[in-house]
Amino acid sequence: MRYNTLGSSSLVVSEIALGCAQFSDQFTKTRKTEADMIAIMHHALACGITLWDTAPSYGDGYSETMVGRALKGRRERVVLATKITYGHTSPEMVRRSCEESLRRLDTDYIDLLQVHWPSDKEENYMTVATIAMLIKEGKVRAAGVSNFNIAQTEEALCVCPIASNQLPYALVWRYDEPLFEFCGRNNVSVLAYSPLGEGILTGRYDETTTFPPGDVRNHCVFFRPQVMPRALKVTAAVRQVAEKHGVTPAQVAINWVARQPHITSTIVGSSSLEQVTQNAAAVAWEMDDEDRALLRAASDDYHATAPRFAHMWDE
Ligand SMILES: NC(=O)c1ccc[n+]([C@@H]2O[C@H](COP(=O)([O-])OP(=O)(O)OC[C@H]3O[C@@H](n4cnc5c(N)ncnc54)[C@H](OP(=O)(O)O)[C@@H]3O)[C@@H](O)[C@H]2O)c1
Repeated sequence: MRYNTLGSSSLVVSEIALGCAQFSDQFTKTRKTEADMIAIMHHALACGITLWDTAPSYGDGYSETMVGRALKGRRERVVLATKITYGHTSPEMVRRSCEESLRRLDTDYIDLLQVHWPSDKEENYMTVATIAMLIKEGKVRAAGVSNFNIAQTEEALCVCPIASNQLPYALVWRYDEPLFEFCGRNNVSVLAYSPLGEGILTGRYDETTTFPPGDVRNHCVFFRPQVMPRALKVTAAVRQVAEKHGVTPAQVAINWVARQPHITSTIVGSSSLEQVTQNAAAVAWEMDDEDRALLRAASDDYHATAPRFAHMWDE
């Protein structure tokens, strides 16, 4: 596991991060007990995964509460990232959101406080300006944004240093690459989320898979009948590379994202100890040019033929 500085901040983060949306009811297929979830988080730390990403909206505060319990006695070893929920833009709302996160996380500081989704220009300005004040007060160490485009990131940078932009990126969701270059030029780290396409690239799911009500995959475009057969062709290419190197498909999909330019850390959601072990080791081997060409061709073909959606969870 490599460790890199997060953008212009002084935070040092692991190249694989733990996505904590799994510690909520959004991934109900693998619902766990509290003890199971805490064991997964402790195992992630033991595997060298020091950046943990949560949000108030994951299970309406439940994920943050679980993270807070897992942090006991380990706070200093974790780089803790959480978010300000979409629409919480006034200074009062941003402050309240931060205070509630601090309470649920049972800590007196947040390492990285991110704006979860952009609002309009003025509202983004107010949110980022309030985070800048929270940094001065010692409650937050660095400001980040998420799902911001170039113009929005540029505007945020005028208010205060922005350490990172958290963006989706996967073989089946090759996000706005000029935005990645913009972030690179401005020392804004990209934190890449959903590298497995919410699981579609792991080879575990096919057209017969169903998810219980409430599972986020019921709303995810990769699992739609008009998209899934195309996405599974990318999964087939991933599987081919995995067999060649004796690794798992998940390790191929994560490795591919983690090695793209401008990505400082790849945020993977893990819902078992075994998944954590695999995902932490996903960067412990190297692809060759032939693998990269095969994956790129499958990904290009998918992007040329799959319907376009504004984001992963469109109707
Ligand atoms: N900023 C944002 O707007 C935003 C949006 C989405 C996500 N995120 C962040 O990114 C994190 C990760 O994204 P994500 O959860 O959407 O998608 P993901 O990481 O692409 O996929 C996670 C799912 O893949 C399966 N999986 C993981 N490792 C596996 C392995 N080694 N082998 C087989 N299956 C494996 C698990 O499915 P099962 O649970 O079915 O086992 C897991 O829940 C989230 O937890 C969250 O922190 C941020």
